[in-house]
Amino acid sequence: MLHIKVILGSTREGRFSEKLIPWITNTLEEYKDISYEVIDLRDSNLPFFDEPASPAYVKDGNYTKKEVREFATKIGEADAFIVVAPEYNHGYSAVLKNALDSIYGEWNNKAVGFVSYGSVGGGRVVEQLRQVAVELQMAPIRNAVHIQAPWLFLDEEGNIQEGALDTYDKALTDMTEQLVWWGTALQHARS
Ligand SMILES: Cc1cc2nc3c(=O)[nH]c(=O)nc-3n(C[C@H](O)[C@H](O)[C@H](O)COP(=O)(O)O)c2cc1C
Repeated sequence: MLHIKVILGSTREGRFSEKLIPWITNTLEEYKDISYEVIDLRDSNLPFFDEPASPAYVKDGNYTKKEVREFATKIGEADAFIVVAPEYNHGYSAVLKNALDSIYGEWNNKAVGFVSYGSVGGGRVVEQLRQVAVELQMAPIRNAVHIQAPWLFLDEEGNIQEGALDTYDKALTDMTEQLVWWGTALQHARS
């Protein structure tokens, strides 16, 4: 069984990231040999990173803060990740980078795919996140989902309009297929 964590890369009120979760998890439900969990960084309560040493030197999840240890345990359970990534000022959100920086070994040798959005589909943020992922010894996959101008999809209540994401269904399936391939390969390699 391959275990995927879906990480919400924004925490602000009214965030678009959470609106994508049912769409993403419906796709994951189609795979019999996958389990998944959504990680909401709002719930993780990670402190702003201020450790005296890089998490790369921390052994066996012995981070100094309880919230970080709990987050590390969750990430350690995963074989692969789908990161839902907004683009803030042509870069990644601070809350997502803080989560990535807070731990190290638990990310290593695991596949990661991205679902991003923004005026150019979050293309810029995904390229930046791939660089960060490599330094975390992750395997960022080639396929991603880039949703363009998502604010145009919302109705007056702020919900995604029926069928608005249909055009991205294939991109999500292709990305998931590739993530499962790499996630499974790395699961075998780690064991
Ligand atoms: C601080 C901030 C900076 C932003 N910068 C960009 C940007 O550089 N490029 C872009 O396409 N959208 C940008 N946006 C618009 C976001 O793509 C849009 O608000 C999106 O919904 C943010 O994700 P979230 O709702 O999950 O927080 C920015 C939004 C915020 C809040």
